[in-house]
Amino acid sequence: MQILKPIRQRFRTVLEKLLDDPALVESSLERIVPSRDPSLADYQANIAMPLQKVLGKPPLEIAQSVVSGLDLSDICQSVSIAGAGYINLRLSPSWLAAQLEAAYRDEHLAVTKVDAPKTIVIDYSSPNVAKPMHVGHIRSTVIGAAIAHVLRFLGHKVITDNHLGDWGTQFGMIIYGYKNFCDQEAYKKHPVAELSRIYRKVQAISGYQESLAQTPKLEQAVEFARKRVEQVQTKLAAAPADKKIAKELATAERQVTTAIEELQSNHKKIEESQQDTLLMAESDTHPAIYEKVLAETAALHHGDIGNLKLWNEFLPNCRQEIDTIYRRLNVQFDHWYGESFYHEMLGAVVEDLFAKNLAVQSDGALCVFLDGFDSPMIVRKQDGAYLYATTDIATAMFREREFSPDISLYVVDHRQSDHFKKLFAVLEKIGLGHTDFRHISFGTVMGTDGKPFKTRSGSTVGLESMLDEAVARAMEVVCNPERLTGVGIQMEDQEKEQIAQVVGLGAIKYADLAHNRTSDYVFDMDKMVRLEGNTSAYIQYSYARIRSILRKAQEKGYDPSGWADSSLQLTEPSELALALHLVRFEEMLHQSMQEYTPNLITEYLYDLAKLFSSFYDQCSVLSASNANEVSSRLKLSSVVAKTLRVGLDLLGIGVVERM
Ligand code: ARG
Repeated sequence: MQILKPIRQRFRTVLEKLLDDPALVESSLERIVPSRDPSLADYQANIAMPLQKVLGKPPLEIAQSVVSGLDLSDICQSVSIAGAGYINLRLSPSWLAAQLEAAYRDEHLAVTKVDAPKTIVIDYSSPNVAKPMHVGHIRSTVIGAAIAHVLRFLGHKVITDNHLGDWGTQFGMIIYGYKNFCDQEAYKKHPVAELSRIYRKVQAISGYQESLAQTPKLEQAVEFARKRVEQVQTKLAAAPADKKIAKELATAERQVTTAIEELQSNHKKIEESQQDTLLMAESDTHPAIYEKVLAETAALHHGDIGNLKLWNEFLPNCRQEIDTIYRRLNVQFDHWYGESFYHEMLGAVVEDLFAKNLAVQSDGALCVFLDGFDSPMIVRKQDGAYLYATTDIATAMFREREFSPDISLYVVDHRQSDHFKKLFAVLEKIGLGHTDFRHISFGTVMGTDGKPFKTRSGSTVGLESMLDEAVARAMEVVCNPERLTGVGIQMEDQEKEQIAQVVGLGAIKYADLAHNRTSDYVFDMDKMVRLEGNTSAYIQYSYARIRSILRKAQEKGYDPSGWADSSLQLTEPSELALALHLVRFEEMLHQSMQEYTPNLITEYLYDLAKLFSSFYDQCSVLSASNANEVSSRLKLSSVVAKTLRVGLDLLGIGVVERM
């Protein structure tokens, strides 16, 4: 179902005769785009103006000669020239109908596979296990899975990899915690819960100690900022009219406020911890706990038998709780090459970089220096420890050997963007520049209070209960008895439960995808599950509504095989608008993968649902004027339903037959 491709093909034939330079042909073809004003045209070609100089002719004349050589009679109803030389194209209803026929008959909606499939590795989800998973990981999981589905659908070879953080300090935390705070009884009964209790305990003690250690530094910062204000005040007194100094003063004053706020929030944290007498006692008996955690981590990395045994015992438990989340979200991965998988390779990787002079000694550490960066990438610390970055280098080298990707995507939140910029520069330097490495960054999930969203207890249970809550809200909104009676649906509890699951989990995914991924977004459960507006529930509802129309049609004696054989007649403006939007499905998918922005897909589906609604308002379906018209409209409606279903499915969101 392509529109631009065949149109450009026809233009190419004409342009190649007109222009000697192939590059000019290509750039001209790029100028054929969907029209911004549907009342004027469906597609528009702004080719003539930029060629004015090259051809030394007025644009109008150029446009005329292009159009006169052009044969678009089967695709377009009209080809006209507007203004100073814009070429306006209006697609022909019969051509649109033929495209929809193909979509109707094909499970793949007649979307063509790309001519040159690429091998694409997608690293997504990748949570640090042993540490409670947070909303950001759901975002990475949902965005990553959607991108993977769409790229596969378009015919690329996609390899998904969950790069688990299963080897870091968080294991030092639970190892130390296990050795010092474990309630063996509880651990035997519910290892996952006990490990997460232990983790939080060690983190609370270390957080408290860290806050104490921070206090003098934060006090100093306030002091320093105040002094700066005084200095600038003196400067301003000497030159009261100087606007630049006045500005400087305002900045300095703001810095004082920020420094005070930081000190206060640190103070508040300390006070809160001090209310907890048990925590205070434990902090006294475990001074400098973070250093001990690091020592346990280092022992693990150096092959300490006891710690390795614990690690092996903990890992499956940690996996269990993330598996629960994946199962509920219905997400799978081809590979689970976590950080621990690369551990044994790090020594050789670093040695190799050193031998090739790519990494050099600096202050006892091994570093890769990069042009255009303030600091090098450290690949081995002074004490011999490897870093997150070292593992990422080893990972990229492994993926090169194993998969030779053309493109490698990392779906990770925006706070790691500096890490990835540097990493990609290193990878280029060590000879992996033929792969297109991309950080698919996304913004922070905020709470309705304007602060980063936290699940209720900040614990693992939090994420699961968040999913439960979405399901419960969906049940209230969609399956409340009053509403169901209103729309005349009777159903058993089991069906209600199933609908609430599909709608509730869909709502969480859709909200993650519908926001431009680079911006922060407010996680508002109330808004997510609404039946109106840009929500998955609205789109699922549209789908269910069409399915119900199709069922009613059958009750009235229209047979699906009958409307399958009928020919599509597109006459009314709302029918044509709907048809054009449907035929654009493939074009939209490609667009959404240009910068990997699934929100273009949610927008498309939302528009499709709205266009269907206006079509249904304006055109009778079941009581159309004659049987042919009824069949044609039923067929059009089925293509809409299928497109909604396939589109949602690409986003990992399900549909229900009625709601
Ligand atoms: N485990 C990391 C985190 O939770 C994300 C890893 C992303 N992938 C990678 N290859 N660095 O922050």
